Amino acid sequence: MDLTELFTKNPDGLKQLAAPALLHRLGDICEGTIAVDAQARIVWLNDKYLHMLGFSDPQALLGRDVEEFIPHSLLRQVVTTGEAILLDLMAFGSETFVVTRLPLTDSTGKIIGAVGFCLYEKLHHLKPLLGKFSRLQEELAETRRQLVENRRPRYTLASYVGNGPASLEVKRQARRAAQLDTTVLLLGETGTGKELLAQAIHASSDRAAQAFIAVNAAAIPETLLEAEFFGVAAGAYTGADKRGREGKFKLAHGGTLFLDEVGDMPLQIQAKLLRVLQEQEIEPLGSNKVIKVDVRIIAATSINLQQSVAQGRFRSDLYYRLNVLSINLPPLRDRSTDLEALCESALEQITERTGMPRREITQSALQRLAAYDWPGNVRELRNVLEKAVLHSDSKRLVAEDFATILPQGMSLLSTFAQEVQPLAQVVAEAERKAITAALQAAGGKKIAAAQLLGISRATLYEKLAQLKLTV
Ligand SMILES: Nc1ncnc2c1ncn2[C@@H]1O[C@H](COP(=O)(O)OP(=O)(O)OP(=O)(O)O)[C@@H](O)[C@H]1O
Ligand SMILES: [Mg+2]
Repeated sequence: MDLTELFTKNPDGLKQLAAPALLHRLGDICEGTIAVDAQARIVWLNDKYLHMLGFSDPQALLGRDVEEFIPHSLLRQVVTTGEAILLDLMAFGSETFVVTRLPLTDSTGKIIGAVGFCLYEKLHHLKPLLGKFSRLQEELAETRRQLVENRRPRYTLASYVGNGPASLEVKRQARRAAQLDTTVLLLGETGTGKELLAQAIHASSDRAAQAFIAVNAAAIPETLLEAEFFGVAAGAYTGADKRGREGKFKLAHGGTLFLDEVGDMPLQIQAKLLRVLQEQEIEPLGSNKVIKVDVRIIAATSINLQQSVAQGRFRSDLYYRLNVLSINLPPLRDRSTDLEALCESALEQITERTGMPRREITQSALQRLAAYDWPGNVRELRNVLEKAVLHSDSKRLVAEDFATILPQGMSLLSTFAQEVQPLAQVVAEAERKAITAALQAAGGKKIAAAQLLGISRATLYEKLAQLKLTV
């Protein structure tokens, strides 16, 4: 028969001719072909597919949900939406297939099922693409694995080093907190081990197998904090967040959420946080659905929260909500009995990390360290020890090894801290000193003094009046 003639006379005839040919051809080049009904139950599959799935008798699969045997199948989506998926990649075991999925309709247009074609071997030209795809898949799996790893707490209660009375009390309270599943508030200066203890409490609680998620309120810009906490619904924004993002509350579901530097949280977020703590549900940005969350909160701060409440910078209702069970972490200067153990464990870890020979700490060194007031607490101690190890070759660390590393007597930070004054006062004092010195150097001549100071004569007169200086 002449094709042109057929086409002009009966366009449908061509379709009828082409359809079986196409199906036949597809069946030939395909690794497998499968058909499902409107409920995505397998109704038919060819032998190739059957073997690929590891079966010899199709009866074992017929009538069963397609996902039971092909976990990444999207045929259910095709029968529900009626939309074909013409070209897609589907992972199956360690292999990736190119797949085509088409809905099947009856004469009235009603969807009665779908057919899927799985292509692989013949598509040599797709090899580079498939290679890239499986590399990306591997990377994704690795990233996911790392994420899970990072969410697992690194610390247990044994990591909190110290056997002095204050440290034993901290550990006793932490153990109790772990059993109680209530909100915990950790209070202590910087470097006293708040994060360590938060992880340790989680690790010895019933939630240990679930996620430990930390949010640092001080490290995230105010505008992003809400999305960080509660997430963003898909389609709420265009651009990078188009697909939506899970909030930390959701990620911590079933586990523990660590609110670090909670005292630095903006008031607006405090109000939202309080609501979530009361309702135990969150509402992602741009969505109007609420999601139930089961999260244990551990909060930490190095600032004085009561003072912040008094100054109106922290909501009192949130403070009471968080302050159910609070643990005060003692500063290092109050734990001198723990100093030796802390040094030992820190030196041990430095050895492990750097591969350098293990150093011992001598009594003279310990005395020197005990005389210092450690504003940066255990974190600072670890840094100081690391510096000492890097600066000296001897097996034993002595007092002299710390001479150049530790400021004499007081730390620099606390020297400044003791002198904190309003800025205006400090500036006025500095100006007074500079002007007096310039006037002296210029023998009382104001024009010369102004020149020395790099200011105009008029400004000098102004300053003299302001500072009530007489020449
Ligand atoms: N008691 C301790 N035993 C062993 N290591 C400790 C102890 N306390 C703190 N550290 C170590 O000191 C460092 C600082 O601890 P961590 O980060 O928990 O302090 P933090 O209180 O959260 O400080 P910041 O307020 O600055 O965030 C960490 O390396 C931690 O392992
Ligand atoms: Mg911290």
